[in-house]
Amino acid sequence: MSLYDPEKRSQKEKVPTEDGSLTLYSAEFDECYHSTRDGALRESLHKHILPAFSLSETDKEELVILDVCFGLGYNTLATLHYLQEHPIDAKVKIYSPEFDRDLVASLTDFDYPEVFAPFAEIIHRLAEQGSYRDEKVEITILFGDARATIPEIPDRIDIVYQDPFSPKKNPLLWTREYFADIRAKASKDLILTTYSSATPVRMGLYENGFLLYDTPGDEVRTGTIASLKPLDLKPVDMELKKQRNPQAASLRDGMFY
Ligand SMILES: C[S@@+](CC[C@H](N)C(=O)[O-])C[C@H]1O[C@@H](n2cnc3c(N)ncnc32)[C@H](O)[C@@H]1O
Repeated sequence: MSLYDPEKRSQKEKVPTEDGSLTLYSAEFDECYHSTRDGALRESLHKHILPAFSLSETDKEELVILDVCFGLGYNTLATLHYLQEHPIDAKVKIYSPEFDRDLVASLTDFDYPEVFAPFAEIIHRLAEQGSYRDEKVEITILFGDARATIPEIPDRIDIVYQDPFSPKKNPLLWTREYFADIRAKASKDLILTTYSSATPVRMGLYENGFLLYDTPGDEVRTGTIASLKPLDLKPVDMELKKQRNPQAASLRDGMFY
């Protein structure tokens, strides 16, 4: 039995969000692509891009980012926007799984926030051919199921924007086995950002050896930062969480297959 419903995949509606940027509602997942309360652009910047770049080692030849999943591409485009304002020496490679080809092909017509205007040509290329390359950045959309494409990524990953639909709606992208696949591809100083602070998600990360922190700042509701090495942030005490809630458990693939 599949948890997905391709018949409904094309049923989407544009929805305005709190910061004025637009997102979509998906009938297949009965959920919006972004938090309407936080705002699509603000969520992307404050839950993913700013914490990831402030906590990552960017002083290297190549910085590899996994953007799960591409959707409207806000996280990839907000990364380009950030790099325009804060250039780094490293070449940036972005891999982004996505199984909705029609959505990506339609993005040339999406009404993006003004700050993405400089990337119109890049959006065009991604919509047409699923990839873009210049001397500073390489973007590859990995068409297909993320569970199949992530293990095939040929590079060690430095940053993960963990931004699928919610664990309730898209559980296979939040299981212990899913995080194990990410861990297997991680560089030693990988930083993972996510909007979720749900205990089963944190358990899945913790059981794979990640240290956990609340997303810093108060621009958006708290999510989670996961890291393989200690960070200068207030840690989430998972041993205490387990003591207080002995039923706490990660999601497992076997619950859904
Ligand atoms: C919440 S949206 C991503 C929002 C995106 N980060 C953005 O900024 O626009 C989730 C996306 O995951 C895609 N998706 C869901 N399950 C998937 C899977 N197993 N493999 C690949 N893509 C998947 C959906 O088609 C949808 O575009």
